[in-house]
Amino acid sequence: MTIQIFDDVRALSAELAAGVRAAVTAKPSLVLGLPTGRTPLPFYHALREGPAADWSQVRTFNLDEFVGVAASAPESYRAYMQRELFGPVGVPAAHVEFLDGRAGDLEAECERYERAIAAAGGIDMMILGIGTNGHIGFNEPGPYLHARSHRAHLQPGTRQANAAMFGGDAARVPEAALSMGMATILEARAVVLMATGVAKAGVVQAMADGHITTSLPASFLQLHPNVTVMLDREAASRR
Ligand code: PGA
Repeated sequence: MTIQIFDDVRALSAELAAGVRAAVTAKPSLVLGLPTGRTPLPFYHALREGPAADWSQVRTFNLDEFVGVAASAPESYRAYMQRELFGPVGVPAAHVEFLDGRAGDLEAECERYERAIAAAGGIDMMILGIGTNGHIGFNEPGPYLHARSHRAHLQPGTRQANAAMFGGDAARVPEAALSMGMATILEARAVVLMATGVAKAGVVQAMADGHITTSLPASFLQLHPNVTVMLDREAASRR
């Protein structure tokens, strides 16, 4: 893992946005894997506000989506991405891929997603956040992990962390989500994990320096040959 430490969230976000812009310029048909949550908001802001890039050929695959939430609902991750990035920078809707949390057959939907990623030639750059419990996407800690896209049961802390999108009420956060699996993530040619704030310091330290364990799914990133971990000083404070 290459660890980069920035003075603050703004500097980190500007650097990552510059890196993504450079990657899009180098390969206009770049295939990006993208996260939601609070951490990437300043990064998406930096992409919107910084120098323009041509996003017309970029393809995107998001990590996860809530089960039972329509893409058009404001609480969906699909709606979040449209607001924060796709609309403002102009990613064509036809190039946006998402797991459909309202699909009639969720297993078939996960298989479709895996086929779509393969058909796109795989993910060039996978950008990740990390949960305080060590999850990436919604690959939650447990006795085993899923290799492929799957239906995930969300832990209480994960639902709490997503409450803001549901009027501050964790009880309204769905108990299940669809998520890319660990192999789906680890097959990306490059992985960038962002973590900011002191609340992430412990999990960042364990992810980077501890054992590889299903109790901390992000620790599997130690097995990937091209991972960059971008931290602010607070998230790096336990290393
Ligand atoms: P956060 O979520 O950015 O809202 O902290 C990160 C994650 O759960 O992956």
